[in-house]
Amino acid sequence: MTQHLATPADVPTTGTHTGWWRDAVIYQVYPRSFADGDGDGMGDLEGVRSRLPYLRDLGVDAVWLSPFYASPQADAGYDVADYRAIDPMFGSLHDADAVIREAHALGLRIIVDLVPNHSSDQHEWFQRALREGPGSPLRERYHFRPGKGADGALPPNDWESIFGGPAWTRTENPDGTPGDWYLHLFAPEQPDFNWEHPAVRDEFRSILRFWLDMGVDGFRVDVAHGLVKAAGLPDIGAHDQLKLLGNDVMPFFDQDGVHEIYRSWRKVLSEYDGERVLVAEAWTPTVDRTANYVRPDEMHQAFNFQYLGTHWDATELRTVIDASLAAMRPVGAPTTWVLSNHDVTRHATRFANPAGLGTQLREAGDRELGLRRARAATLLMLALPGSAYVYQGEELGLPDVTDLPDEVRQDPSFWRASGQDGFRDGCRVPIPWTVEGSSYGFGAGGSWLPQPATWGALSVEAQTGDPGSTLELYRSALAVRRAQPGLGAGEDIQWLDAPEGVLAFRRDGFVCTANTTGRAISVPLPGRFLLSNEPVAPGADTVELPADTTVWWAV
Ligand code: GLC
Repeated sequence: MTQHLATPADVPTTGTHTGWWRDAVIYQVYPRSFADGDGDGMGDLEGVRSRLPYLRDLGVDAVWLSPFYASPQADAGYDVADYRAIDPMFGSLHDADAVIREAHALGLRIIVDLVPNHSSDQHEWFQRALREGPGSPLRERYHFRPGKGADGALPPNDWESIFGGPAWTRTENPDGTPGDWYLHLFAPEQPDFNWEHPAVRDEFRSILRFWLDMGVDGFRVDVAHGLVKAAGLPDIGAHDQLKLLGNDVMPFFDQDGVHEIYRSWRKVLSEYDGERVLVAEAWTPTVDRTANYVRPDEMHQAFNFQYLGTHWDATELRTVIDASLAAMRPVGAPTTWVLSNHDVTRHATRFANPAGLGTQLREAGDRELGLRRARAATLLMLALPGSAYVYQGEELGLPDVTDLPDEVRQDPSFWRASGQDGFRDGCRVPIPWTVEGSSYGFGAGGSWLPQPATWGALSVEAQTGDPGSTLELYRSALAVRRAQPGLGAGEDIQWLDAPEGVLAFRRDGFVCTANTTGRAISVPLPGRFLLSNEPVAPGADTVELPADTTVWWAV
């Protein structure tokens, strides 16, 4: 292997951009499954507060909290009844304030989840819209429509819900007769807002201000691609529409009109000091369309779901890495990287299964192989320029819990046949903190989803101090990333020649090699060994890269 620079276009640009978020490692807390402060079996804000020092010591820069707002929990809190209140199950505004203040005191930023595409059906506006019946001005804030066919018994159009079934539910009029239908791209308990209505736009700017005044450092914007629907709500004309998602612009997703909303939000953020940020959860057909969300006057970051969906394969990875960097370059936004979140099978389990299986799995696969590849994939991700997202428990190498009995499952899409999701409970099982004890240290009570008997051996306590553990690998990687100039920062990488199945690239003072194959491969020594997910024994001039192993080198 001769090492040389690739094309001149790959030479790093000088870092003219600033902002803490550009190379931040952001840790996703799923509050119901992180730590339970009051022993009711459900994680809460007091649990989060008490574990902030753990996150500081792990070495992350920011914490993104999935929703903790007042909610009937039809979709685990992504159905918000009151955007300015905390659900009692998670605590109070006082607890939220404590989390924000203590995080700041520890040098951690806090990003909260904002859910603007839909509310809960228990939201005051929707309840009034139902109560007041046809003609209620509140109905204009959602999408109410008469049904088609004789007696309006058919849905207004052919759109299907992401969770399966029609995207419409019929209402009953106050007098008990069958009434209009309302749109819900997700569960029936999640009616979509009508973003053409000025009151909706005003309300969300006000909600942004409420949380900015509380001191949060930013927002992860849920379903950011969904707010605007094509005029007239046209039929799609196809069955099995979920297969079209991600391949095409749909009349309810990725409409150009969404961008005006984010431009107005950016203006709100710019009234505040301290570099507050907006992060788009935007599922779009291409990374180029994702880049539209992070133009200079819109959001700051967007999740890179194309990267999340990539197999552990050098050619595929290089293609998506290049495409991601190229898409973000013209808009000047940092690229982001993510391997796991609360909606997909954990990457330790994805990589344990044959390539080709999607992000919703029920098969445990080859656990040892999956963990080994997951550790290698994490080191690769943390070596790329930009910001990286870590989902709670991946630092413990947790697999998905693929054998949850049906009767304990809570994902609403599991209960609606043919939906896109359905197996998301497997990545939401409360995480283990201790080897033994009630719910492995999650809390003094039980745990809202059952934890496997293997959880204790994977706990924070079991892994702390064990140099071979996944937790210590994350701690070391994040410490090196902080200490090593150039890691994370910048916007480009220089690919180096490498044998088939191996990725090799150079950053400022640093080389990363990733052997994605199942066999050891010998290469010329790239530099001074820094870190790897498997033991590596560099020779004088060459080194054997073990199977499924990423190595960081100083040069
Ligand atoms: C987002 C969330 C997911 C939720 C959906 C509807 O995709 O990440 O958990 O079910 O939006 O709010």
